[in-house]
Amino acid sequence: MGKIFILFIALIAFSHAELKGVQDLKFLTPLQQDYVGDISEYVGNAIMRYREVAKDGHSLFGFERTLGFLWQNPLTCGVCHSTLPALDFLIDNSIVTPGLEKIIAYFCGKSLAYEVCLGAIQEMGSIIVPEVMKFLIGPKYACSRLVGVCKNPHFKTADPQDYIDRVLSDKPDFIKDNDYVNAQYRKIAADPNPRKTVKVLHLSDIHLDFEYKEGTNAHCDEPLCCRERYGPAPTPEAAAGKYGALADCDIPVITAESAFKFLNNMDEKPDLIFWTGDSTPHDIWNQTVERNALYATKISEFLQVHLPDVPVFPTPGNHEFFPVNVMSYDEQDPFLKKIASVWKHWLDEESFELFEKYGYYSMPMKGMNNSWENVRVLSINTEACNGQNWYLISQTNDPGNMLAWMEEEFKKMEKSGEKAFIIGHVQPGGGTCLNAWSERYRALMERYQHLILSNFFGHTHSEQISLITDTKNQSAIHVYHAPGSLTTYSSHNPQFRILDIDYATGYPVKAHKYFFNITEANLGNPEWKEQYELTEEYEMKDFSPESFYNLTLRFRDVPGVASRYKWNVGGRPYPLSHYNCNSAGCMKGLYCTVRNFLNFESKDCRGSKRYDFRNNLADSVAEIALNPFLEHVE
Ligand SMILES: *[C@@H]1O[C@H](CO)[C@@H](O)[C@H](O)[C@H]1NC(C)=O
Ligand SMILES: *[C@@H]1O[C@H](CO)[C@@H](O)[C@H](O)[C@H]1NC(C)=O
Ligand SMILES: *[C@@H]1O[C@H](CO)[C@@H](O)[C@H](O)[C@H]1NC(C)=O
Ligand SMILES: *[C@@H]1O[C@H](CO)[C@@H](O)[C@H](O)[C@H]1NC(C)=O
Ligand SMILES: *[C@@H]1O[C@H](CO)[C@@H](O)[C@H](O)[C@H]1NC(C)=O
Repeated sequence: MGKIFILFIALIAFSHAELKGVQDLKFLTPLQQDYVGDISEYVGNAIMRYREVAKDGHSLFGFERTLGFLWQNPLTCGVCHSTLPALDFLIDNSIVTPGLEKIIAYFCGKSLAYEVCLGAIQEMGSIIVPEVMKFLIGPKYACSRLVGVCKNPHFKTADPQDYIDRVLSDKPDFIKDNDYVNAQYRKIAADPNPRKTVKVLHLSDIHLDFEYKEGTNAHCDEPLCCRERYGPAPTPEAAAGKYGALADCDIPVITAESAFKFLNNMDEKPDLIFWTGDSTPHDIWNQTVERNALYATKISEFLQVHLPDVPVFPTPGNHEFFPVNVMSYDEQDPFLKKIASVWKHWLDEESFELFEKYGYYSMPMKGMNNSWENVRVLSINTEACNGQNWYLISQTNDPGNMLAWMEEEFKKMEKSGEKAFIIGHVQPGGGTCLNAWSERYRALMERYQHLILSNFFGHTHSEQISLITDTKNQSAIHVYHAPGSLTTYSSHNPQFRILDIDYATGYPVKAHKYFFNITEANLGNPEWKEQYELTEEYEMKDFSPESFYNLTLRFRDVPGVASRYKWNVGGRPYPLSHYNCNSAGCMKGLYCTVRNFLNFESKDCRGSKRYDFRNNLADSVAEIALNPFLEHVE
């Protein structure tokens, strides 16, 4: 029955994460919800404590204390090994699994259309069930680690601190004060001469919808509206506009094309493009590999038609994969295989080969039009830390070897004198990127801070900044950036950023945010406009990590700054008065989010629970189920 329980929780967590209607555990009464809220922190912390105990191979539940001589006894081990597979038939059974899926879909169907729930849950069930079977409650793991009656194989929790200490052990003296990047900005500021800059378009989360239909209901009860199947709008206000809607809708082709045309008509066109993923519409319950690849291909074609000769550095988002979020580094991913051939002309040979296998690559920029010597792009595939990627159940130790690969790249760069931009989709340290992975990522950022120029991500659809801090002192060594989405989903104005990057050093110095006023466009004036330049908007001295740190203090201490930020990040879809963040709690909340790199540290800063089943079921379950890195010793 343990299997069924895990499966049940996993599927609920999934449907909860991806389908908005189930977000508040609506099928529970308020009292039950309170109860869930109270026990979650307890359960999360208890499991983490067991993990500590189980570090060197003891039972996760401390059974050695109760089992006596049966503990790690070949006899008990044999019984465990023969019993677990016998239970498998329960799950294998073609009645039980579909039955379970239907039960969960029934609860989910209380707030959403049943077919939407069932589609999503079936897509996921086909991954979660075999993964859970194969690993988490397979005989090897369960008998050795969960119950602990077998001695071998041995699972060792890999302590993140060991990793951090190792990575930092040869940190050079000249970056000891973690001020290297700030010092570069001070040098740039001290130069009295004008400096050449490179224009980089950062484009993310386009989420086109070929089925978008003007006049349909933009406020349906499903996760994705503005489609024929939801019927005509009941009132003119609720109608999908020609260019999009401030609602749970993705964008029609015409809106994406307007952005590309605008970019092509600019006096100073972008010199290069960072495209950080997510092409498909949000109808995640009804997708296929082919359809997801078609969307990414279509957008690639738009870029080639409208911005020919501009080099593009693409990276896959969580929505590229099928089912959404799910990607195995063990097998050839069908999406990567398909899209690698489309992106081939943007990649060099080595990058193409790596990308096709794992979805990440490292490519020098010197071959491109703008010929940037000694600068490269590390494009990372953040499925390695995505807590909704259920393959991480069995791929627990540095999924895809990506951290090891990055470390090798940095070592080579340190020798050759190269520097790198990092691009990816899910933000490390953010809610959906697992803490265990993010902690290690941060150690790499600290150790190689002098080689990293900046970090660019997407995913949240809002324009976003966050400090990347050092591992001990929490001082700002870098900043990561997200430009906001081209899609309006949910209730954003389409937006992108053009960064001015200092050519001599490679550091970004300005960020111009452009937006498309959907309301105005639907009234007949489709127009892309610069919303602001970031350092001017927030009266910052420069683009240094220290400047951004100072900005976070103003979020916390100066009324008005936090509200303005909240208004800005979605492209100002509603008036400023809509975004009241002038209470001490709200201001501190924003400060905590932007100032801290790790999600757990932001939560500690806000005084909220690290594991919160009630308000954040999916991330909490993911942190508990997938978080630790396990070394598997045969
Ligand atoms: C640690 O942080 C404090 C306050 O931000 C700063 O004064 C100090 O120089 C930092 N030390 C290091 C080693 O980064
Ligand atoms: C899934 O997509 C197909 C093709 O677009 C459509 O006919 C069908 O109604 C969709 N089903 C759901 C549940 O959205
Ligand atoms: C890039 O190529 C285009 C067309 O080939 C050319 O007009 C432009 O000047 C080049 N840009 C740089 C920075 O070399
Ligand atoms: C967008 O357009 C609407 C309608 O013209 C207008 O009321 C609103 O102020 C505009 N928003 C911004 C941020 O310019
Ligand atoms: C940050 O704030 C401190 C204290 O107000 C100030 O001394 C420093 O110049 C500021 N640095 C930047 C880069 O804005």
